[in-house]
Amino acid sequence: MCAETVHLPIVKTAVWPNEAATQQLATALAACPALRQAFIALRGDLGAGKTTLVRHLLRALGVPGRIKSPTYAVVEPYELPGWSAWHFDFYRFNDPREWEDAGFRDIFASPGLKLAEWPDKAAGQLPLADLVLQLTLIDEAARHVTLTAQTPVGLTLLSAIHSSNPLMDVGPSANRLVNSESNLASASSGVAP
Ligand SMILES: Nc1ncnc2c1ncn2[C@@H]1O[C@H](COP(=O)(O)OP(=O)(O)OP(=O)(O)O)[C@@H](O)[C@H]1O
Ligand SMILES: [Mg+2]
Repeated sequence: MCAETVHLPIVKTAVWPNEAATQQLATALAACPALRQAFIALRGDLGAGKTTLVRHLLRALGVPGRIKSPTYAVVEPYELPGWSAWHFDFYRFNDPREWEDAGFRDIFASPGLKLAEWPDKAAGQLPLADLVLQLTLIDEAARHVTLTAQTPVGLTLLSAIHSSNPLMDVGPSANRLVNSESNLASASSGVAP
């Protein structure tokens, strides 16, 4: 029997032509059971769409009511049936003592989904993210996205996104899907001697 070798990180890039494409990605992620143990870092400038993506994701997971941005509270917790999720925004995080005092270390040591905006502001404290989403504004509605799987959990999430292929369903411009570095399918099935 041959062992399977996967070389991480694996990077995939795409263009989301509008918010519907962002929502479709969120819906695809929500359908993936690996999400229950994942840490997803969301990078990108102010207004890039990080909170919007999280809102679509939490909504797809069944969170009712208003989904607040945690810009001031730093974290918003969510109880889902049988599991937990936390949405962080580290934009205003500047005291490393808060990491211990506010219980963030305990949260990151717990099972459940952790979503973090502005992860670079807590870079010294955060563990390695399973999946990193880098969003870049193209125009009012379009976003360039780079998805980087950094762990096996991240690779599982990336594969789920890839196989549901939400980016291809939105319209002709969504077909500008570009795989960088290597094709995910061939990379994930690479066989070592
Ligand atoms: N394709 C798209 N994906 C995501 N958001 C989009 C898209 N097109 C337009 N938008 C709009 O862009 C805005 C993004 O704001 P959002 O609060 O999500 O940004 P953010 O990255 O969380 O910013 P901040 O760093 O300030 O928290 C929203 O008003 C959203 O409706
Ligand atoms: Mg935000």
